[in-house]
Amino acid sequence: MFRKSDKEDKRSAWGLTYGNYKPAKEGLREALCTLANGYFGTRGAASETPASRINYPATYIAGVYNKLATKIAGRKVLNEDMVNCPNWLCLSFKFGDGPWLTPVGCKILSYEQGLDMKKGVLSRHMRLKDKNGRIAAISEERIVSMSSPHIGAIRYTLVSENYEGPVTLRTALDGDVRNSGVERYGQLRNTHLEALSAGTYGVNGIYLLVRTSQSRVVIAEASRTRIFLAGREEHVNGKTLLRQKKYIGREFSVNVKRGQPCIAEKTVAIYTSRDRGVSDPLKAAMHDIKKTGRFGSLLEEHAEKMQRLWKEFDIEIDGDIFSQKALRLHVFHLMQTASDNNYRLDIDAGLPARGLHGEAYRGHVFWDEMYVLHLYDLRLPDISKALLTYRYRRLEEARRAARREGYRGAMLPWQSGSTGGEETQTLHLNPLSGKWGPDHSHCQRHVSFAVAYNFWKHWERTRDMDFLEGYGAETIIAIAQFGASLAKFSKDDGRYHTSGLMGPDEFHEKMPGARKTGFRDNAYTNVLIVWTLMRGLEVMGMISDAKREEIMRKLRITRKDAARWDDITRKMNVVIDERGIIAQFDGYFSLKELDLEAYRAKYDNIKRMDRILKAEGKSPDKYKLAKQADVLMLFYIFEPAEIKNIFARLGYRFDRTMLKDNYDHYVKRTSHGSTLSKVVHCYISHILGRKKEAWEWYQSVLESDIYDTQGGTTPEGIHAGVMGGSVYITVKGFAGVHFMRDRIMIDPKLPRKWSRVRMNLRYRDSRIGITIRPRYVELSILGGKRTELTVFVNGKEHIISKGAVCRIRS
Ligand code: BGC
Repeated sequence: MFRKSDKEDKRSAWGLTYGNYKPAKEGLREALCTLANGYFGTRGAASETPASRINYPATYIAGVYNKLATKIAGRKVLNEDMVNCPNWLCLSFKFGDGPWLTPVGCKILSYEQGLDMKKGVLSRHMRLKDKNGRIAAISEERIVSMSSPHIGAIRYTLVSENYEGPVTLRTALDGDVRNSGVERYGQLRNTHLEALSAGTYGVNGIYLLVRTSQSRVVIAEASRTRIFLAGREEHVNGKTLLRQKKYIGREFSVNVKRGQPCIAEKTVAIYTSRDRGVSDPLKAAMHDIKKTGRFGSLLEEHAEKMQRLWKEFDIEIDGDIFSQKALRLHVFHLMQTASDNNYRLDIDAGLPARGLHGEAYRGHVFWDEMYVLHLYDLRLPDISKALLTYRYRRLEEARRAARREGYRGAMLPWQSGSTGGEETQTLHLNPLSGKWGPDHSHCQRHVSFAVAYNFWKHWERTRDMDFLEGYGAETIIAIAQFGASLAKFSKDDGRYHTSGLMGPDEFHEKMPGARKTGFRDNAYTNVLIVWTLMRGLEVMGMISDAKREEIMRKLRITRKDAARWDDITRKMNVVIDERGIIAQFDGYFSLKELDLEAYRAKYDNIKRMDRILKAEGKSPDKYKLAKQADVLMLFYIFEPAEIKNIFARLGYRFDRTMLKDNYDHYVKRTSHGSTLSKVVHCYISHILGRKKEAWEWYQSVLESDIYDTQGGTTPEGIHAGVMGGSVYITVKGFAGVHFMRDRIMIDPKLPRKWSRVRMNLRYRDSRIGITIRPRYVELSILGGKRTELTVFVNGKEHIISKGAVCRIRS
């Protein structure tokens, strides 16, 4: 693993390199070296080994879920998983009748693994000695094609150093897999695939057809493995290996000479019955395999596509290799989790919080999108459109959910999977105590408003009126309607209140001693409701009369409703004390203090204080303790001026001191059990001008996944939210590039180490090149219809024109 102190050059900031084999680190490396293209993702596991205690070679297809019931703690629990699909990697060699050449079964003479983010290639080089003393130098290169999204390919080269004679190559498609990537879920049923058929074709082809047991998604994989010796293709007929129609393999025998490379090129095509324009997934897969060329040409097309994507997405940082590398890793994984393939193929899938990289949270979609969508909105906004459309398609389900609970409008699930129904588990295992306890996190209704926020921000950034009319308006209005139905007017204080809701801080589930889950007046949710209602009213005025009438008729919204919405935006309750501290919820100030320092001294890692307290028989509900930013979220998603505006409308005071005081109050009481928390604290300390603190947070944000700082969570999947958050801090925080309505504003405050930040962004109908240096800003219009743009640099207005680079002192 590279260290920050490593002497690294700019080139190395495009990759991850590991110079050894460490079984204990394989899980983390597999997640970090996952290759994906929006359609499917494959963990960066060794091709030679099946799932074991060391390796977890899993492949996930966006949007493919399956639901199973398990009896646990005397109850039947249903769990929907993003399905681990058949493993297409399976490839290994052996000398004569020796053992298979794997890092686990042989002596490792040398081992290197590298992820080339620029080209999207994973490579491994190893020298292995088998028990007979035969030495093999093996090189593997792997891609998950960004340009042909159904295709994955491997070039596997074996050079025998001291042996001549027969070698056997085994290639397979393994559908005998389960969702076993997360240990805590071990007691739950996890076999999702049923065998349909498997077979061989031609001299070197194999195929496997399986189906998910409940959702009935047919998954086809077809593969061909070509062998080349001394540059010439060997047309050997492979022996077939078949296991209960769930595993199909083929073994080929060839004779190798010392020093002569034997190359196996394996290509797989993956299709499912969910794909658009496909009636027979197996036929489609076999057809693709027939037409694909050699690995070299697949690699070339893929790398070209990667290059085009990087032109949109890359953020260059000069002067700080670690930040550059880690930030690029974040952008890389987000470019893979959802790519332009999502809209090209019209993939019906959301953005899983843990990417297409692992099984934590079962591949579900949360509010984490809120931390990520800006990345796509400002570069390839069609990607956001594809993800937002996933939400739109599930609006009816959200409306049914609201009705079931006695509300109006659309109540989106806290965890969303295939149908948009609530997929949050009802029971949760505390690994510290080994006990199953109830999971109340679905009471986080703020997720609905996060979705409204995402639709609105997409509109603000793109001005895509067609998308707003077609999808955004109805979603925002339906969610606003839900928000209004959560608010109840009290004659006692003349204010609206909400109850039964949890904020993002999941440690607090209810008031101490209360029977009912949730809280009265979670400040974050209440303010977000107000904001959503304001946007709902605004959107109604923006769309065509016909569309407005259609939506109002469909959602049964009357003029009286609209008047009530307006009233709520003026009278929603937020509890604020005399010091200006915003209470996370009503009653928060009556909770006890917890001595976090004492726990820090006692435990290595106190991030999951909830589990520690519960294992000690205490309830986190009793304390002023937070898992993650809750009140502080307001300062992350809204500009201080926007908060001031909302608060003024509600009749509350807001000034900058409150920003500081609230930060100081909550930061002391937060254990950062979610990586999202660091992002928010980083951004706020930056806007407070606390440079050192912001920088420390930023480093910790960047380290989250690359060093797995939560202690074992990254092997279960990347944290998409923290990855998106790091980009937000870099662009909006340090580079100071932000957009407010019609204005492009740049207020840079680069970290001391940085000598330059460079990026391209799309805003509305323009594409802009932005370079920030410590003393000046360079701007150019790279594309779009507009020939001139108005930009405010440190508050001063400038006009930039197409065709010239405009340099402005900052
Ligand atoms: C956090 C949530 C987040 C989820 C998925 C949880 O640990 O508390 O806010 O949405 O992880 O990333």
